[in-house]
Amino acid sequence: MIKKGIILAGGKGTRMSPLTKAVNKQLLPIYDKPLIFYPLSILMLANVKDILIIVNKGQLNQYKKIIPDGKRLGIKITYLEQSKPRGLPDAFVIGEKFIGKNNVAMILGDNFFYGQNLTSKLLENTKLKKGARVVLYKVQKPELFGVAKIDKKNKIISIKEKPKKFLSDLAITGLYFFDNNVVKFAKKLKPSRRGEVEIVDLLNMYKSKKQLSADLIGRGGAWLDTGSIEDFYKTSAFVSAIENRQGFKIACLEEISLNKKWITKKQVIESIKFYGNCDYSTYLKKLVL
Ligand code: DAU
Repeated sequence: MIKKGIILAGGKGTRMSPLTKAVNKQLLPIYDKPLIFYPLSILMLANVKDILIIVNKGQLNQYKKIIPDGKRLGIKITYLEQSKPRGLPDAFVIGEKFIGKNNVAMILGDNFFYGQNLTSKLLENTKLKKGARVVLYKVQKPELFGVAKIDKKNKIISIKEKPKKFLSDLAITGLYFFDNNVVKFAKKLKPSRRGEVEIVDLLNMYKSKKQLSADLIGRGGAWLDTGSIEDFYKTSAFVSAIENRQGFKIACLEEISLNKKWITKKQVIESIKFYGNCDYSTYLKKLVL
């Protein structure tokens, strides 16, 4: 069972400037919560309680204000800084000590997942013992993402980062599951022409050993990545539509913990005090009535 997870929440912060000049992207709102709540909720739903959040240099204090150490949520949060955006696989070099001898999941801080059966899919993927697994999702503009071509048995034939020529319409989402070799492999990577180490190069190392597998999220699921201001609006509208229709919140961290019995109602009341008088607290109050 994968018990450790990394949220990579750094980056250049250029695409969404000036919004991201003073505040990290992952702390900006997706409807009624900071973006970081959503990828964090995904790891929690996957029963991953030991979580490393990698943030930009100088931004640690901002994060600690909202998620100090995880105690309130019944999980363990460790923070480390990335001095500059060296590429996604850099997370495994930075996180070497945190990972130790374990297997590890990674989610990018700007990825949003939602849908029925998602939790069971996540739990299935955390059973990974050997190799690496990516999660794929059909998109209309594959040229914007890493993509994977698969055969009839869902085996990966080839992968490419943002291909100019059509290869497949299956995007590689920002949720990955790795065995412990990931640290060793990540250390071997050399920066590409754009000066970053590339996640596809890392995945290709597994593929060449026939150790790369894929899981697919079908049309009933949602995967959105919040790379641009437009994406923030669209994702916020999605969350607002679902939440206001059902009355359930997406990515309410305390609700997930309470359901999993990682925290007691008393701890939820602590959270209500922590957030103060707001809509999120009103929702929490309903959980402990
Ligand atoms: O969202 C899925 C896509 O994410 C995948 O399909 C691609 O294969 C993968 O390369 C990545 O593409 P992006 O173009 O979205 O990568 P970007 O450089 O924007 O980084 C994604 C997030 O990770 C972003 O929130 C910033 C953060 N990041 C990025 C780098 C390169 C870091 O924290 N540190 C880094 O060094």
